[in-house]
Amino acid sequence: MQLKIFKDYAALSAAAASEIIDLVKNKPNAVLCLASGETPKLTCILAVERAINEKIDFSNITFIGLDEWVGIPPDNDGSCHHFFDTLFIRPLNLPDSQVHLFDGLSGNLQQEVKAMDELIAKKGGIDLVIVGIGMNGHIGFNEPGVSFDLYSHVIDLDEITVTGGQKYFKQATVLKQGITLGLKHLMESKKAILMANSSKKAEVIRKAVKDKVSNELPATIMQQHKNGFVMVDEDAGSLLK
Ligand code: PGA
Repeated sequence: MQLKIFKDYAALSAAAASEIIDLVKNKPNAVLCLASGETPKLTCILAVERAINEKIDFSNITFIGLDEWVGIPPDNDGSCHHFFDTLFIRPLNLPDSQVHLFDGLSGNLQQEVKAMDELIAKKGGIDLVIVGIGMNGHIGFNEPGVSFDLYSHVIDLDEITVTGGQKYFKQATVLKQGITLGLKHLMESKKAILMANSSKKAEVIRKAVKDKVSNELPATIMQQHKNGFVMVDEDAGSLLK
């Protein structure tokens, strides 16, 4: 794993957007997996802007959404689906055939999990995954205590995720479970980037980078990724110097 510290959120986001653009330029049929959330928001906006301005062909990529809240409809503003749709899929005109998002409303979540794992295997794995980090050190919905050996799965949400997750919703929302890619997918991805910005993430980033690798802080697994990057702004990286 390598650590990269950027001046501010804008510089961090521009660098992450460049990773997406460079990938698709070099490998038009790339498999790209993004997280939703506040952290990757500007990355998505800048990547879409560059894709359009520089006429980069996204028509052969495969797009995968990292995770979804179980029981939350796709048109709910707080769903991951809504985030991807608004900030990436629609602006780039990606047809359904290129887009793979978990359906949090599915009556058969195990089938969702199986379909995602089969798709990723069939595509030969993920080329680039860009994730954020939760205040409890989760990646996607890989919550503290999760097995490092899991591919996609359904998981009970940690209390910190339930409380912190309210920020995405217009009104108080019952959040109990998530459906998520597993850390095995992260570790098998050809390149993994964990991004964080703002001083509120400084302590969890310090732990993720410096603490012993343990499933009690799932993001520590990034330390073992052969082509893994932790990219932070100066505020989130302030305890690393
Ligand atoms: P955030 O979420 O980007 O909204 O801070 C990160 C996460 O919980 O994984």
